[in-house]
Amino acid sequence: MHLGRTTLSKFLLQQLKGIEGANDLGALLVDVAAAVKAISAMTAKGALGGYLGELDARNVQGETQKKLDVLANEALIKSCEWGGLVAGMASEENDEPVPIPAEFRRGPYLLVFDPLDGSSNTDVNVSVGTIFSILSHAGDRPPAEADFLQPGCEQVAAGYAIYGPATMLVLTVGKGTYGFTLDREIGNFILTHPLMAIPPDSSEFAINTSNARFWEPPVHRYVTECQAGRTGERGRDFNMRWIASMVAEVHRILMRGGVFMYPRDTKDPTKPGRLRLMYEGNPIAMLVEQAGGRASTGRERLLDVQPAALHQRVPVILGSRNEVDRIERYHVEHDNGTAHPYVSPLFNERSLYRPEVLG
Ligand code: AHG
Ligand code: MN
Ligand code: MN
Repeated sequence: MHLGRTTLSKFLLQQLKGIEGANDLGALLVDVAAAVKAISAMTAKGALGGYLGELDARNVQGETQKKLDVLANEALIKSCEWGGLVAGMASEENDEPVPIPAEFRRGPYLLVFDPLDGSSNTDVNVSVGTIFSILSHAGDRPPAEADFLQPGCEQVAAGYAIYGPATMLVLTVGKGTYGFTLDREIGNFILTHPLMAIPPDSSEFAINTSNARFWEPPVHRYVTECQAGRTGERGRDFNMRWIASMVAEVHRILMRGGVFMYPRDTKDPTKPGRLRLMYEGNPIAMLVEQAGGRASTGRERLLDVQPAALHQRVPVILGSRNEVDRIERYHVEHDNGTAHPYVSPLFNERSLYRPEVLG
């Protein structure tokens, strides 16, 4: 056993020194970590814990809830509501913000989370995660939904847990991205991945290609060029991955680079993307930027998007910065009609010759 390792608490004391409200922020992150340990224990038990399978319920997004979605949500709420650190919480699994019970003090932060990301993976024993975002809340009154609607660049901290072969907690307080591994024997998170850095270039991409017919031309162009490999525009071969859990994809990208895309598509015209801005896009974007990568909607920096609703969806393109730059350029070229021949400028989005305009 190594003594003197950097535990999460020791790290937070050092990292938050000099930051306003440091003690409260550190204490809240420790409460989040406590919930993550409980969720880790449940996911690790698998079928033995009776936690697998679906409930006869749907969440606000109309998605069927898994037992673990609800249990993970409960774990986070119970772990963080009592400590006088949060003024309110919001979750993928709750239609409205979750109020703090009257018997507890309210604190200076708002906690927003996706309790279980990639929950379709639980029953097949593939990695899942938890994503969280911490925002400030000024004033004494209980927060309304509008108080949560702050752009991602206002986050004071963000992180995710990945429940894989090892459980890890990856977080940022705006001073770099750090990874901790859960030592199950002693129940502590130990700093194992200081200052994680995403390589600026990569030959690996992640996208659900079953949606290809719904993509916009710039995404088609990028993926087609990757698939052409060494015989095409890019002059080198690419590899592809799809785990169906953004946390697991992002963790791989933080470790060895790559690009993850759940772009805008036309699958459901009422939704601008699949992923949710407040508790999927924003916290992951902060972690990626803090590790030297980029996160974009394709047309703007993700962290600059002004949210209009708690469960708003957003296109997400993130990872190695030179690849994200390239995909953004393809969007610009498409929008201003200077794109590659995949789409004739005559038929781009702004053109009068679009089929829907011509009738
Ligand atoms: P959640 O389980 O919280 O609803 O999120 C799943 C998300 C994301 O993590 C993943 O990248 C994506 O949905 C997978 O979507 P597809 O099933 O369309 O591939
Ligand atoms: Mn999710
Ligand atoms: Mn979820």
